[in-house]
Amino acid sequence: MTRQGGFCLFFVTLTIIFGAMVGAARAATDRGEYLARAGDCVACHSVAGGKAFAGGLKMGTPLGNIYSTNITPDKETGIGSYTLADFDNAIRRGVARDGHQLYPAMPYPSYAKLTDEDVSALYDFFMKEVPPVHQENRPSEIPWPLNMRWPLALWNVVFMDHAVYEPKSGESADWNRGAYLVQGLGHCGACHTPRGLAWNEKAYDESSDAYLGGTMLDFWSAPNLRGDVNAGLGRWSKADLVRFLKTGHNHDGAVFGSMIDVINNSSPYLSDADLDAMATYLKSLPATSPNQPVWAYDDATTKMLRDGHPMDRGAAIYLGQCVSCHVDTGMGFAPFLPPLAGNPTLLDNDPSSLINIVLNGSNQIVVKGTPDAYRMPEFRINLSDQEIADVVTFIRQAWGNHASAVTADQVAQFRKATDPSSDQVVILKMR
Ligand code: HEC
Ligand code: HEC
Ligand code: HEC
Repeated sequence: MTRQGGFCLFFVTLTIIFGAMVGAARAATDRGEYLARAGDCVACHSVAGGKAFAGGLKMGTPLGNIYSTNITPDKETGIGSYTLADFDNAIRRGVARDGHQLYPAMPYPSYAKLTDEDVSALYDFFMKEVPPVHQENRPSEIPWPLNMRWPLALWNVVFMDHAVYEPKSGESADWNRGAYLVQGLGHCGACHTPRGLAWNEKAYDESSDAYLGGTMLDFWSAPNLRGDVNAGLGRWSKADLVRFLKTGHNHDGAVFGSMIDVINNSSPYLSDADLDAMATYLKSLPATSPNQPVWAYDDATTKMLRDGHPMDRGAAIYLGQCVSCHVDTGMGFAPFLPPLAGNPTLLDNDPSSLINIVLNGSNQIVVKGTPDAYRMPEFRINLSDQEIADVVTFIRQAWGNHASAVTADQVAQFRKATDPSSDQVVILKMR
């Protein structure tokens, strides 16, 4: 071999080794980015129109408003001087670098389930791939003495299970992967599990049937994600569930309200295998209220609407304002204009989401950068409290739906509490 040839070979080998090293580092940060998507960090740590991860999103808690923080690697205002151990303490234990306790609005009680490897991959992504942004954090608006953070340490002792996810023997690898994602990064329980008096989620895994039993947060009711046949996922197949998480639509409903954060920034970015695993896990959760009579379509409402003799005010408003999109059969044009007949959200005892969506409409669905063409309009200006109560009561009791009536007083409370101008969507490129 000539000297030149030897040099060349040396150079090629070096390039391959170097290339492999860069490739491995790249793969690690890509994995971190994937995990950041699964954890939906961007939805809470950014504001609409702002820089990704620079913080500042206002979040209501029972004690007062707080603001999410800057988690870009800026050394002065962000987490640039966090070591891996500091980052781990924040993510899995809710303790910031200076030792102060974080409010559980940061879902660290769920992230506590993460493995060491996943925490470290997330850390690499934030440190190496996220551009630093110089932006000061906003102080919380919780009044003294409730703003004292040390009682949170006690809260953690009482309510938090600090254990990393332990695969359950006797369940498949798929089920365990799904449980890990749903309970951990997905923090689905933060919205879907009822909370106790101290704002603690009543359960963090399937050992209690309160887990993912459905509840109201920020004026949206997040429905039951268990086997309940009417207001839960009992009538959805695994494929229906995967489709909803991947696209925000299926033949039974369309995403709206605070779930839009999950569809716009998180679940469609997950692999089919991971979405399938999540569906396997969710479909294994038994109903909270078993033995309910299963919803069945009843065409009496359709006939009544077609005869042109609407019996009540709610039906008349439906014909005037809603029928063009949701149709007199109540079946809409699925999957883009969702059906109202048999839709689990309409069969839920808690009408919060229905009142909210009719008052304020829905934000845009943007699946992996592609905005969707249809939106539920707002009726805040066109319909009075009584009219909204009438039409919501009507759709809750039409086409075989059978949920309780809604009053004008309930609508008035929601009208006051929800201000559509403050409810903007966050859709951001992460880097
Ligand atoms: C549901 C909203 C929400 C989600 C999702 C969320 N966070 Fe947070 N996070 C917060 C809030 C709010 C705070 C500030 C809490 C406080 O001030 O007590 C915070 C604080 C933090 C801190 C402490 C920063 C500091 O300034 O000391 C870190 C680090 C952090 N989050 C990282 C993450 C990562 C990484 C993810 C995704 C895996 C994530 N967060 C997802 C709401 C969220
Ligand atoms: C920020 C709060 C929030 C988080 C986090 C959240 N959800 Fe939701 N979810 C909601 C709300 C509110 C609704 C009702 C609106 C709708 O149907 O889109 C909902 C609806 C759903 C539905 C439709 C159910 C039906 O019966 O129509 C599914 C399925 C779902 N969520 C699954 C999940 C999963 C899985 C996770 C975790 C990866 C999750 N959600 C995390 C708030 C949330
Ligand atoms: C211009 C078409 C249009 C009109 C008119 C309309 N809607 Fe909607 N509605 C939608 C779309 C689209 C969605 C799905 C959410 C989204 O993507 O914005 C939706 C969602 C809903 C939902 C939540 C169901 C789900 O699973 O997403 C309810 C409840 C609802 N509409 C009730 C009504 C009522 C009541 C009226 C009349 C007062 C009405 N809508 C008028 C288009 C419309």
